Amino acid sequence: MRLILFGPPGAGKGTQAARLLERHPSLAHLSTGDMLRAAVSEGTPLGKQADAFMKAGDLVPDSLVVGLVVERLQKPDCADGFLLDGFPRTRAQAEALDTALDGAGIELDKVVVIEVPDSLIVERITGRRMDPETGAIYHMKFSPPPAAVADRVTQRKDDTVEAVTARLSKYHSETTPVLPFYDAKGLVVRVDGVGAPEDVALRIESALEGVG
Ligand code: AP5
Repeated sequence: MRLILFGPPGAGKGTQAARLLERHPSLAHLSTGDMLRAAVSEGTPLGKQADAFMKAGDLVPDSLVVGLVVERLQKPDCADGFLLDGFPRTRAQAEALDTALDGAGIELDKVVVIEVPDSLIVERITGRRMDPETGAIYHMKFSPPPAAVADRVTQRKDDTVEAVTARLSKYHSETTPVLPFYDAKGLVVRVDGVGAPEDVALRIESALEGVG
């Protein structure tokens, strides 16, 4: 299966990616957010350039992100399928991905759009906590961390009200215009992202019936 998980910040892309990977363990998970955060924490040249954009809730320039993904897609673990999470986010990224996949003779199966209204996003994002040891995603109200990990969970630097407002605005101005590109190819499935994560997971699984 070759999938794109698409949706606004806090839609549940990371949460649903983890569930999809439990059911489809051969898929490689390519989260550009995770890749960029790793580059920032390792202090690589890419990380140094990306850091300020991310903290402000801006998109990292296409010229930095596209190469990262195209290189990653060539790794052997992507041969059996992949789950792109947070990429593409601009029309230029979608076109670059298309060219790279065409060149490799690979076709995408679906673009799964997780739809969540803006009014729910700030609460989801500001309540999010991450386990730095396992990468597990929690929410202080909707999915609290268990006692054994509660002391070590951390909050992302861009999970402030100011940054999420900027991220949402970029989503609407730069990222949703990508969808017509995939609609024209008949690849888009839209899934209601409101409700318990397990219910959203069932909706995604049923939208993917017959794929792969
Ligand atoms: P990235 O890490 O991709 O962030 P994002 O797209 O803003 O998405 P999030 O990770 O915030 O949310 P999510 O949809 O994964 O939700 P989650 O499952 O965690 O990107 C970060 C930054 O990197 C960008 O702003 C940009 O600067 C840069 N970047 C990344 N990719 C780029 C690209 N391609 N081009 C340029 N720049 C790029 O859930 C959120 C919370 O909600 C959690 O607490 C979770 O527990 C909770 N939750 C999940 N599902 C539910 C539910 N059904 N009900 C209630 N709560 C729920």
